[in-house]
Amino acid sequence: MGSFQTSVFGFFISQLCIGQLRAHLGTTANIRPIVVGRCYNYITLVTPSLRVDCEDIWRRFEESVVLRSSFNATVDYHQMFDAVPQTWPCNRCLFWSQTRNLMHSYTAVERHFWTLEDTLVGFMFNELVWCGREKRSGFDFGSCPPWAPSRRHPVYSLWRQASQNFAEMACGNVTVLLNGSISNAFNRQSMFGSVELDGLDPCRVDYVHIRVVTNLEGPFTESCSKGSIADLIQILRSRGFRWTCTLNDETLMNLQCVQNPEQASCQRCASGFSRGTEPPTDPCGC
Ligand code: APR
Repeated sequence: MGSFQTSVFGFFISQLCIGQLRAHLGTTANIRPIVVGRCYNYITLVTPSLRVDCEDIWRRFEESVVLRSSFNATVDYHQMFDAVPQTWPCNRCLFWSQTRNLMHSYTAVERHFWTLEDTLVGFMFNELVWCGREKRSGFDFGSCPPWAPSRRHPVYSLWRQASQNFAEMACGNVTVLLNGSISNAFNRQSMFGSVELDGLDPCRVDYVHIRVVTNLEGPFTESCSKGSIADLIQILRSRGFRWTCTLNDETLMNLQCVQNPEQASCQRCASGFSRGTEPPTDPCGC
């Protein structure tokens, strides 16, 4: 199984496990010091120019989760978002769908990209789980509902609002990383397809650069002109966006070779280096 395939498979399994665990596990232990601590980390070390009140953000977040009119009501975080007046620079936003692991390696080398996890809210709540209690106030540390795309779901609802804000603020060139080894690489039900795409503003965004990436050894299910990505391009055209689409950008393929050099398509590079020879002008040729 290819490295990308393995990681995508791993991602699915982990999502499945997370989904199952979420049905049993409750709010992340120590959520308050984690969230407030991440907030101080962000405003002190990551973006010292940002002026926010971390304790106030936490208070507003907690109120949204635990003081709902009823347990089944929509979870509305707008009070919390009002306390986070963050803007982000043009030309740097990276969106993705079904490519989370690769996105992390990509942004580690292409450091100018900004993802939702680089915003204060994304940074504070990354990987956390939370929910209120049905009959009493406070967080439920025993059990939370499994992930569901519903505004009544406390975790989904926050990510949905954060994703919408992220897309609405995007400007200049934006990039979207999609997985060409699956069908429905562009999925209208996903957060990218249902929230972020609609949030992009053709007056603020100059170009949408689509990067389609497949596993090194395939399957080569979708490309810029095939499958759901062609639908995405059609939507972009109809809304007046300018766009480009690249299949298997060299950096993305090389990143996969770094993660799994044994892949046949990476061998030229691996054998050349292992003999201590100079790298070829076109390193790896993959
Ligand atoms: N922490 C934990 N889980 C996350 C995070 C995060 N920071 N971000 C996303 N996830 C999970 C979601 O719970 C979802 O199940 O990853 C999965 C992403 O699903 P995909 O179908 O791969 O992608 P999509 O639904 O399109 O969402 C990705 O939304 O997160 C934003 O800006 C981000 O463009 C990206 C898009």
